[in-house]
Amino acid sequence: MKLPQRVTICEVGTRDGFQIEPEFIPTDVKVEVVDLLTEAGVPRIEVTSFVHPKAVPQLRDAETVMAGIRRRPGTRYAALVPNDKGASRAVDAGVDAIHTVLSASESHNLANVNMPIAESIEKLRAVAQIARRAGVHLQCGISTSFGCPFEGEVPLARLSSIVARLVEMGARGIGLADTTGMANPRQVSMVLEALMPRFPGIEWTLHTHDTRAMAVPNILAAMELGVTTFDASIGGLGGCPFAPGASGNVCTEDLVHCLHAMGVATGIDLDRLVDTSRRVEQIVGRALPGQIIKAGPSTRRYPVPDTVAARLTA
Ligand code: COA
Ligand code: ZN
Repeated sequence: MKLPQRVTICEVGTRDGFQIEPEFIPTDVKVEVVDLLTEAGVPRIEVTSFVHPKAVPQLRDAETVMAGIRRRPGTRYAALVPNDKGASRAVDAGVDAIHTVLSASESHNLANVNMPIAESIEKLRAVAQIARRAGVHLQCGISTSFGCPFEGEVPLARLSSIVARLVEMGARGIGLADTTGMANPRQVSMVLEALMPRFPGIEWTLHTHDTRAMAVPNILAAMELGVTTFDASIGGLGGCPFAPGASGNVCTEDLVHCLHAMGVATGIDLDRLVDTSRRVEQIVGRALPGQIIKAGPSTRRYPVPDTVAARLTA
């Protein structure tokens, strides 16, 4: 396998994960989780989103969360924004990076941000200006890049033309999001092989959901093509409230375990990450989909049963 030596993980659990939690998570608890992720060495954290508080009531405390977190130099703290109002709020709150959102399919864009794609692109042009003036990194994410729960297949030509407009307006990174886990590894390869050479200098992020247990295979396919940035969610939290059938992102600690087992560095302390995941399970009051929290790392060993030990020494 052709694998990079190092990948960059962007933790999205406190945004993509918490946004779908029905019970309001107190602001100080959100801050605590971000701080635990920082201490575990996660290099990028999508802390929250600056969206309409009625659209996502769980994240209505975005300003207070941003103001409360302890920032580690070198860690990049981002927030999701859908429009210029969100961008101004995010810049005022002191984010290091703006992650924008629009969808590759009309129906999901309307359901998610209440506007047609063309209007989203106009709003994102204003976002790009705000980001540029503030000197804030701009990464543009595209939901339903690999398929839409309403429309099905998303034509590559449409995805490519959206990427072109985002790059032209100043995006330095493009996030391809598989919002409801419809992508498969072969499709991920084909899409990336088509897009990557067309937009040199762009940093590609793959944003996966494990809805159909294809997140890690999709990530491996992207890594083989040279993608080194991946979104993931602590415990496997996550899901878009405006996409039917959405479920959690790829689980951060499972992905980090997989990468470390293959000798790919992340800079993240896996033990601390697992401790953070345990704390998040406590907070949301249920077991999360992560496997490593249950199974332990592949280096875990069990005592040999006495009967077996007797035969081994015999
Ligand atoms: N933050 C807070 N308030 C916002 C806002 C933002 N980012 N964007 C718009 N508003 C306010 C406007 O100021 C306006 O307020 P007013 O009525 O007091 O004047 C009101 O919302 C309506 O503005 P409009 O531009 O018509 O927004 P809308 O009602 O069409 O909603 C979005 C559009 C994008 C703001 C809304 O659909 C949204 O927040 N979606 C978030 C989706 C999301 O987070 N999905 C999950 C992540 S993928
Ligand atoms: Zn998502």
